[in-house]
Amino acid sequence: MNIFHKEWNSNRIMNLTNLYKVSELMFVSIKIDLFSKLHEPKTSSELSKELTFDNDFLEIILKALVAINLLQIDKNNRYHVTPSAFPYLNKESKNSINSLIELERTMRNKRNLNEVILDLLTGESPKRIDFPEKNIYTNAMSSGTYYPALKMGRVLLKYFDKNRPINFLDLGCGPGDYALTFKKLFSNLVGTLIDREEIINITRQRLMEKNVLNDFKLIHNDFMSDPISGKYELVLLSNICHFYSLEEISHLLNKIPFNPKEESFVIIHDFFLDEELNEETFLPIFASLDWMGNHSNRFNYTLNEIGSWLESLGWMVVEQEAIKGLPTSYILIKKEKKGEGEIE
Ligand SMILES: C[S@@+](CC[C@H](N)C(=O)[O-])C[C@H]1O[C@@H](n2cnc3c(N)ncnc32)[C@H](O)[C@@H]1O
Repeated sequence: MNIFHKEWNSNRIMNLTNLYKVSELMFVSIKIDLFSKLHEPKTSSELSKELTFDNDFLEIILKALVAINLLQIDKNNRYHVTPSAFPYLNKESKNSINSLIELERTMRNKRNLNEVILDLLTGESPKRIDFPEKNIYTNAMSSGTYYPALKMGRVLLKYFDKNRPINFLDLGCGPGDYALTFKKLFSNLVGTLIDREEIINITRQRLMEKNVLNDFKLIHNDFMSDPISGKYELVLLSNICHFYSLEEISHLLNKIPFNPKEESFVIIHDFFLDEELNEETFLPIFASLDWMGNHSNRFNYTLNEIGSWLESLGWMVVEQEAIKGLPTSYILIKKEKKGEGEIE
């Protein structure tokens, strides 16, 4: 917090103009896996030998990274990753966000945001881009999911006994990380995971590698237009709503077959705007531009707006919270089970 909300001076304003250079440096550093390689201190010449790079240029890069405090340098001129940044930038770490940074790098190479924004403003249709290669996209979907999955799973423990059988539906499951974490917390959870064919093939592979394929039913279809079968008590929509309008999401919620004999829970996890406009809301606000530019769908709900809208549809908001350290929040909603004699 607080790169921006400090007293301005001309130098700090000029630095804004140069922030893209910081991103470029990060992109390159992730591309050459520099941060993982500096898990132990190394001099520039040791590192240049290991990477077979030009030492003079490498040293400039290392110094620039020290200047923005992603690296530190010791008295023997050895560089290492700043300890607080290390868990996020070391590709072996559970909290690594390297693949998200790599996704941003490939997206940046595919389109010029400047042009996208100007096109939107002047009524031109921005150039549509192809999705990045599947492995870059699915790796990015897996990245940074561990903490929100655990956080949401722990919240669900308030509502579901950990030994209770749960019929769980994950719509747009991506690589399946949320289902995997929920399964660790709820041993009797049985999951149905739906995504598009090319993604489900990757999900299947990942679940097979983890020996849990038998705990899940994998379906490839379009959950918006195809029917959904089963009877569920818990449904996850993680990073899905931003692709759809509120009307489309209501249509989806109405067609999900919930188990009428149990309370139904839906957990929605996404980027939301905030009434308070601060540094943390920059990304969600900007994302709405991005979505419009690429999906022609405006996504700009605050958590409270989506909450009141869900309440108007007969759902009760039972929990909502921003995920600490990430630009996402979750909202847990529930509907009572149907009373005796009520028609399903
Ligand atoms: C941003 S990713 C989110 C993945 C995962 N839920 C997560 O939070 O990490 C969105 C996923 O939803 C899938 N998706 C979106 N709309 C879909 C639809 N109508 N039918 C099937 N899959 C869909 C996409 O293929 C993609 O894998």
